[in-house]
Amino acid sequence: MSLKDKEKWNAKYESSACLAGREPVPWLADHAGLLSGQGMALDIAMGEGRNALFAASLGYDVLGVDISDVGIARAESLGRENKLTIRTQVADLDHYSIEDDSYDLILCFYFLNRHLFEGIRKGLRPGGVLMYETFTVDYLQYSGFRREWVLEKNELLEAFPGLSVLDYREVDEAENETAYASLVARKE
Ligand SMILES: C[S@@+](CC[C@H](N)C(=O)[O-])C[C@H]1O[C@@H](n2cnc3c(N)ncnc32)[C@H](O)[C@@H]1O
Repeated sequence: MSLKDKEKWNAKYESSACLAGREPVPWLADHAGLLSGQGMALDIAMGEGRNALFAASLGYDVLGVDISDVGIARAESLGRENKLTIRTQVADLDHYSIEDDSYDLILCFYFLNRHLFEGIRKGLRPGGVLMYETFTVDYLQYSGFRREWVLEKNELLEAFPGLSVLDYREVDEAENETAYASLVARKE
């Protein structure tokens, strides 16, 4: 397990009541109409659970994976508050295998590990949906991020061959000092 990542993220979560807020990422909420709410969902790098719990509220049986036990404990507590149950797993995603043909929905928000791309594609069941959003290269002008931590132009669009892209965008919001790409794709 990458102890440095775990310590870094545990400290971040301990220093704030709810770092990313309780509401799901707008891209997920805005595309909820594409989601059946049936079957299994995986939230990769779930954090404090804002997106995993939203998927659970739609009816999915959700597994949330993250390296931070503090984030996971917070997600579980938020779930109890809202009478929503999710399954959780503390794991290092740098050394993680997604089971083939297992998920009807895969979420990945603000986390990038290119080694997982193939597993994500194979992990979706036919009809399964992928929602992904994270920072792009344009974000480097607003942050001290390293280039390998952000997506290249069009990278997310081309990262999952064989999936049908249902929606895609690249955004650079100077006023909010953020830049990111968002994808919704389905395995036909
Ligand atoms: C920016 S947060 C995003 C959290 C969540 N997806 C959201 O949108 O609210 C990044 C998350 O990645 C997790 N993370 C970082 N490195 C990780 C690793 N190697 N394995 C598993 N999780 C990791 C952190 O603990 C943190 O919760």
